[in-house]
Amino acid sequence: MLSWDDIDSKPEQKAKEPQPVPGALQSEQQAVTEPSANYQVESASSAPASTAAQEEGATASSASASSAVEAARAAVNDLDPAPGLEELEMGAARIEVDEKRIINCRADLNQLVPFKYDWAWQKYLDGCANHWMPQEVNMNKDVSMWKDPDGLTEDERRIVEYSLGYFSTADSLVANNLVLAIYRHITNPECRQYILRQSFEEAIHTHAYQYCVESLGMDEGEVFNMYREVPSVAKKAAWSLSHTQSIGDPNFKTGTPEADQELLRNLIAFYAVTEGIFFYCGFTQILSMGRRNKMTGVAEQFQYILRDESMHLNFGIDVINQIKLENPHLWTDAFQQEVTQMILEGMELEVAYARDTMPRGVLGMNAAMMEEYLHFIANRRLSQLGLKEQFPGAQNPFPWMSEIMDLRKEKNFFETRVIEYQTGGALQW
Ligand SMILES: [Fe+2]
Ligand SMILES: [Fe+2]
Repeated sequence: MLSWDDIDSKPEQKAKEPQPVPGALQSEQQAVTEPSANYQVESASSAPASTAAQEEGATASSASASSAVEAARAAVNDLDPAPGLEELEMGAARIEVDEKRIINCRADLNQLVPFKYDWAWQKYLDGCANHWMPQEVNMNKDVSMWKDPDGLTEDERRIVEYSLGYFSTADSLVANNLVLAIYRHITNPECRQYILRQSFEEAIHTHAYQYCVESLGMDEGEVFNMYREVPSVAKKAAWSLSHTQSIGDPNFKTGTPEADQELLRNLIAFYAVTEGIFFYCGFTQILSMGRRNKMTGVAEQFQYILRDESMHLNFGIDVINQIKLENPHLWTDAFQQEVTQMILEGMELEVAYARDTMPRGVLGMNAAMMEEYLHFIANRRLSQLGLKEQFPGAQNPFPWMSEIMDLRKEKNFFETRVIEYQTGGALQW
């Protein structure tokens, strides 16, 4: 193995060393120069049949490489260690936990610790512990069932197509909203750390839907365009997108009550409605299919996704409530009414989707039962945000869904699934 001492001992390379740059430290020059000088020597000796033209080219290229190194060295020497990007202050006092805030924080965002929001960091750790990939799920039985003309009823096929149609693009909408709209406005490093993890999970979810579509040999163009071509799917996507536009504007800035409320609208639209309501009809339908031993590979993919989504929802609710705590002036009566209406709009859109996907009873459920369930879910989102429930007494007609996502059982659910996943065991229905 070559060491730097070996390189130093070669006399020919010393002759090719570029001249020192005035002002540069000697040790820095050696570190930058010597490896490239050694490379030049070896290249020349390994090409005995070089023509004059090649040698000329090599000399020119060596001169240009040398000037590039000099330019780089000069730029490094001139580097100002207080970059303007985050308005860093050299030698400023170290960060105190009390300075940290979810929005409009002026403290250095490049330092993860000290933690203020332990719940955000814990969710990041839990998300990592739940890591999974779509290819690990066996899809063979699904492929046989999907291709068998008698494998599924028409109504069951409709549910698979609509679910993949909505979700295959919905998770991209969520990911784009995270990365292109909200990330830069959430001014807290531990929350950003979770958002980065969530963004990757959304990419895995889109991958999972694509993997299902590909495995089943479905028409990709048809599935991926449903969010623009099928009204009950398109309306949900359009509703989400309508709440991302203003925040995604490069000129949008938080810091005024109006702008901060607009950011809250976005967080509520995506975490509480898109991930907290729009996913529930499709998840319930596909998981019900899996419980009946149909399309179990697709259902297993959805179950892993649901585990992730439950955490996304809870993270979003925690972020929204923390912003409310730190900025009580934003949570006016008028704004609370507006948020209540947003939840109800989301619920109405999901009921319309339920009716469109279940024109008749299927898989032990029907549109009326789903409507009741969505009233129950809407109540839950309202109370999680500290708002009045709008459907007193609404019951959950699918208690088995609670086994998977009910908040009181969620902790156990995660712990159980993490252990099963890591030991390669199958998910339990
Ligand atoms: Fe997702
Ligand atoms: Fe999500």
